[in-house]
Amino acid sequence: MKIATITVNPAIDQTVSVDNFQTGTVNRSRAMRFDAGGKGVNVASFLADYGLDVVVTGFLGEENADVFERHFARKGIEDRFVRVPGETRVNIKIMDEENQITTDLNTPGQIPGEYAVSRFYEQVEAMSEACECFVISGNLQAGLPSTFYADLIRLLKSKKRMVVLDTSGDALAEAVKAGPNIIKPNIHELSLLVGKPLAEIADAYSSAISLINEETTIVVISMGSGGALFVEKDNAFIARPPAVAVKSTVGAGDAMVAGLVAGLSKKLSLKDCARLATAFSLSAVTRLGRDLPKSSVIDEFQKQVEITPL
Ligand SMILES: Nc1ncnc2c1ncn2[C@@H]1O[C@H](COP(=O)(O)OP(=O)(O)OP(=O)(O)O)[C@@H](O)[C@H]1O
Ligand SMILES: [Mg+2]
Repeated sequence: MKIATITVNPAIDQTVSVDNFQTGTVNRSRAMRFDAGGKGVNVASFLADYGLDVVVTGFLGEENADVFERHFARKGIEDRFVRVPGETRVNIKIMDEENQITTDLNTPGQIPGEYAVSRFYEQVEAMSEACECFVISGNLQAGLPSTFYADLIRLLKSKKRMVVLDTSGDALAEAVKAGPNIIKPNIHELSLLVGKPLAEIADAYSSAISLINEETTIVVISMGSGGALFVEKDNAFIARPPAVAVKSTVGAGDAMVAGLVAGLSKKLSLKDCARLATAFSLSAVTRLGRDLPKSSVIDEFQKQVEITPL
């Protein structure tokens, strides 16, 4: 099964290591690196590391696309990103390892023009010939209509493609009306979507069930170290990770989405998908960077996942 991921607002992650970082003064950095980022790019990277056939699209600024091009070449990911004039945004992460403090400086990203959007649609249509599953991840940049994902999902559903959605806010609220097959909000995103606090698992469960219908058949609610609630029509359970030493929770959600899709591509049961998804997310939180460890590590994590039926 060929899998596509869509990232409309990717970013280059610039990580600067500065011990004892202080504002309003000159800081000396120890090291710096640039990584191709954006949620759909992360999902694609995990899937490619797992050995799956992956294609990526979205919008990339042509002036600094080389960071992405090298990354996709290294991972064997097929690049179908539409190039737009200018640069892709750079998000700066200042890591003070001495004090274990990270400071993020995120930028908004540019709005693709009408021509780029129509090229993107052409690309998606062309990809839908070969790709059975589309993963749509991340927030929409301000300037794109909140119905952007909803429209995209309607197109993909008309082509009988499976859609996995991981977004939040208005884009999520609009998109659920278009019938994505699977959604993976975290508990806060779900709470915002249903407009009520979700203090108890029972509240999260009833909210998830309210989103299940003919089109949307699986809802996964991630809850950080508490694991994730997997819900389908007649089946619901929590997948809990073991206690681990956390290095960075960046990309935990993306890894979970990738693991879920990897499981589905292998036609695993939802329980086994949940084990694999949680193992992927554990790989992300116990390591820096966004490479998947070797399969023996994933296998070991899978065994440690505790599944509790509701
Ligand atoms: N501190 C942790 N310890 C163990 N596992 C964790 C921890 N944080 C996250 N995970 C794992 O990662 C999964 C997804 O995490 P989380 O709910 O934080 O996703 P998210 O909020 O969507 O993250 P993202 O910021 O990547 O979008 C969890 O269900 C869990 O399996
Ligand atoms: Mg998330």
